[in-house]
Amino acid sequence: MLVQGKPYRTVWLQGSSVQMIDQTLLPHAFQIITLPSCRETAQAITDMRIRGAGAIGAAAGYALAQGVLEAPAGAGFWPAVQQARALVEGTRPTARNLFYATERVAAAVQGLAPEQAREQAVQEAQAIADEDAAFCKRIGEHGSSLIRDGARVATHCNAGWLAFVDFGSALSPVYQAVRQGKRVHVYADETRPRGQGASLTSWELQQEGIPHHIIPDNAMGFLMQRKEVDLMLVGADRICAADGSAANKIGTYEKAVCAKDNGIPFYVAAPSTTIDFSLPSGAAIPIEERHEDEVHFVWGRDDQGAFRRVRISPAGTRARNLAFDVTPGRLITGFITERGIHKPDDLMQLRPR
Ligand code: MRU
Repeated sequence: MLVQGKPYRTVWLQGSSVQMIDQTLLPHAFQIITLPSCRETAQAITDMRIRGAGAIGAAAGYALAQGVLEAPAGAGFWPAVQQARALVEGTRPTARNLFYATERVAAAVQGLAPEQAREQAVQEAQAIADEDAAFCKRIGEHGSSLIRDGARVATHCNAGWLAFVDFGSALSPVYQAVRQGKRVHVYADETRPRGQGASLTSWELQQEGIPHHIIPDNAMGFLMQRKEVDLMLVGADRICAADGSAANKIGTYEKAVCAKDNGIPFYVAAPSTTIDFSLPSGAAIPIEERHEDEVHFVWGRDDQGAFRRVRISPAGTRARNLAFDVTPGRLITGFITERGIHKPDDLMQLRPR
């Protein structure tokens, strides 16, 4: 997508270094960071310099490819590759795309001689990133049919192009609908505690010139009750095919309940690479619990332009910081993937053969 008129992806490989847009600085500064090693790329995923299911997946694929490039030829080669894989897989537990990527890179190099393995790892990581962008584009093509001219679309967190390699999942249908000449207004909730809606979704929509409002997290239900929302589109970090449930940023479940109560269609947009075909139910999805300081502190620019982190709770108060919740399939109208629009009961059909 365009940033000040120039096309960007969120993450890419330059030689043996990973480059990415540093999402912790947005919307205040646009900066590309360079990560020369597997360890640094893994740390960037942990620190959420890159976040969002597909973007995490692509970064993880590149990070493991870096691990393969760095592994010493000889007896230490495979142990080093295994170590790199464990490091990357230990960064963020919920996003299915992360494991999809490491599994794919590991399978691509299995049994090869080190030199071949290095070449293959880079190729596979690149293919994963390219596939993510292509799948998200198709999600936009399928999903735009759900958006009528003049629609008011609500979204939660950031499932735009910053959360993927390009195009995004929940916002891809919006971008596509706007390109088709439809007028669309987006309501993006702030998404406490990290504020991905306020800082990232609004920035993306601004770059594309799409009309939008940020709303406080707790305003969505009332807006729905007033019939000011026509459709809700969200992303997913992991979808359970067995019961059609979806893990997404904390607060998604509440929005789905409100949408159901008000008869508003609620769609989850995600590439099929986010679907977990192995889990028996959504209750088995591993949910990341992050540091409580994300709840206690907010950060941003003050009136003088200086970056500041300020505490909003009393010192000594404890906080819980569950990063995701699981929305049951009964609250989900449908899933939009690169293959089309599916009912929650139909996801097992998408299982790769
Ligand atoms: O913790 P994050 O920012 O990596 O969470 C991921 C998300 O941005 C959301 O849950 C998003 O809606 C789905 S990922 C495309």
